[in-house]
Amino acid sequence: MNFRCSSAPLAELGCDGVALGLFSSSWQQQLAALLPALASQLELLLEQREFKAKGGEKHSFSFPGQQPSLVIISGLGEPDDFDGLALRKAAASLALASRGSNLKALALVLPLEAFAPDQALTALMQGCRLALYKDERFRSENKPSLDPGEIVLQGLASELDQQLAQQEAICQGVMLARELVAAPPNVVNSLSLEATARSIADQFGCELTVLDEAACRERGMGAYLAVAQGASIPPRFLHLVIRPQGPVKRKLALVGKGLTFDSGGYNLKVGGSQIELMKFDMGGCGAVLGAARTLAELKLEGLEIHVISAATENMVSAEAIYPGAIVTASNGKTIEINNTDAEGRLTLADALVYACGLEPDAIVDLATLTGACVIALGDEIAGYWSPDDGLAQQLSDAAHRAGEGLWRMPLQSSYKDGLKSGLADMKNTGPRPGGSITAALFLKEFVKPEIPWAHIDIAGPVWSDKGRSTDPSGATGYGVRTLVEWCQAVAADAKEGLSQG
Ligand code: BES
Ligand code: MN
Ligand code: ZN
Repeated sequence: MNFRCSSAPLAELGCDGVALGLFSSSWQQQLAALLPALASQLELLLEQREFKAKGGEKHSFSFPGQQPSLVIISGLGEPDDFDGLALRKAAASLALASRGSNLKALALVLPLEAFAPDQALTALMQGCRLALYKDERFRSENKPSLDPGEIVLQGLASELDQQLAQQEAICQGVMLARELVAAPPNVVNSLSLEATARSIADQFGCELTVLDEAACRERGMGAYLAVAQGASIPPRFLHLVIRPQGPVKRKLALVGKGLTFDSGGYNLKVGGSQIELMKFDMGGCGAVLGAARTLAELKLEGLEIHVISAATENMVSAEAIYPGAIVTASNGKTIEINNTDAEGRLTLADALVYACGLEPDAIVDLATLTGACVIALGDEIAGYWSPDDGLAQQLSDAAHRAGEGLWRMPLQSSYKDGLKSGLADMKNTGPRPGGSITAALFLKEFVKPEIPWAHIDIAGPVWSDKGRSTDPSGATGYGVRTLVEWCQAVAADAKEGLSQG
């Protein structure tokens, strides 16, 4: 599917499909202005269906043999409520309604007056592309796609076409993350993640370092290896570096939890724990690799980006770690593993220590870390924790622009008591109440206090059972857009700092 911008009037576009969004007040006039030839006929048809142009109302009309042969009309509600997120949703819903019609070209016509052109372009393109994503990799038969061959973003100047490549790069990152997360655990494992990282490195000329088990042992990564020792597939510690063309102004580290399957280990997951979905437990790794795919293509000026994941699976076997074992992480801290199902934080502990060793200007980790975070915020919003208000604000702004739900949670230091161990420096698991907070406090023990750090728990939004807005059901690719937005903002900041001298 191809995208194109055009500010030519609708009638001159010659598209066989037209998708329109109309505000509820005076939708008849808007319709008449946009599609004069068909307006009176469509108005009657819409009134028959008691169309009020409320948000979410949607109707399709076929005009066989005519141009256009398909008209899709969606209500947008009141203009006051029509924000960036609503624009994205409207684009997604109209694009989905065109699916199956095998159109040559769909003209997408939405009111863009309230938006900056690049914001509109982002919302329209991402809305369509990401909503029309379909994963057919695991079917024996390939059905031909009946999606539109081209989508024309009407109302955007054709000079904006050059920005479409950047949006395409972002969508490719989201789609890579979705593919990685959706693939079953017998397909995506530590070795295949290494291969994915390698192909990003090869395609875009980045540097990849892979630590095998021996190299991890040498670095004293006892927490990560404790999780990995039950797996028959060897662990892979992945470190991808994206370097800018010119001088480095900022160095960022993106760390993703990379559990390609989480059985719980000897604290085995039981009924109702969604064990059959625990392939998504590498969603953090998927997000950072997806972002890497995008950022490696965009090559943001002045930004060096380190993408890190300690990949493995959490399995049960004779070699698997004992509940109650005490292990030592690579910063020397000792951990009593009172629950083998709290494995993500063990792998992240060593990944965060490694990231700190790179002395970046900031570290952000993404992890499907706790069921508690899903209970707190549901599946549309990720929780995040950061001791650094500046970084916290940057991430919140980035997520807002990206249209991803993100809510700051407290690093309540008194809850650290819940991680006290009678024998070791700490336990890996605290009490059930506030479980996502103690998880974040655990991670904090492995981050150098002088490095700004944020932890994002994506256990909820990594997956959508029903699908929502621009996300089809299943893997969402959550996090890629926020990370890319954040990196872009940091790069822009760094550049500004430079020109100010
Ligand atoms: N990967 C899970 C978290 C998870 C659970 C994500 C459900 C999505 C849906 C994590 O490794 C885990 O098992 N966490 C435990 C922690 C507990 C043992 C302290 C949990 O949330 O139950
Ligand atoms: Mn677990
Ligand atoms: Zn897990």
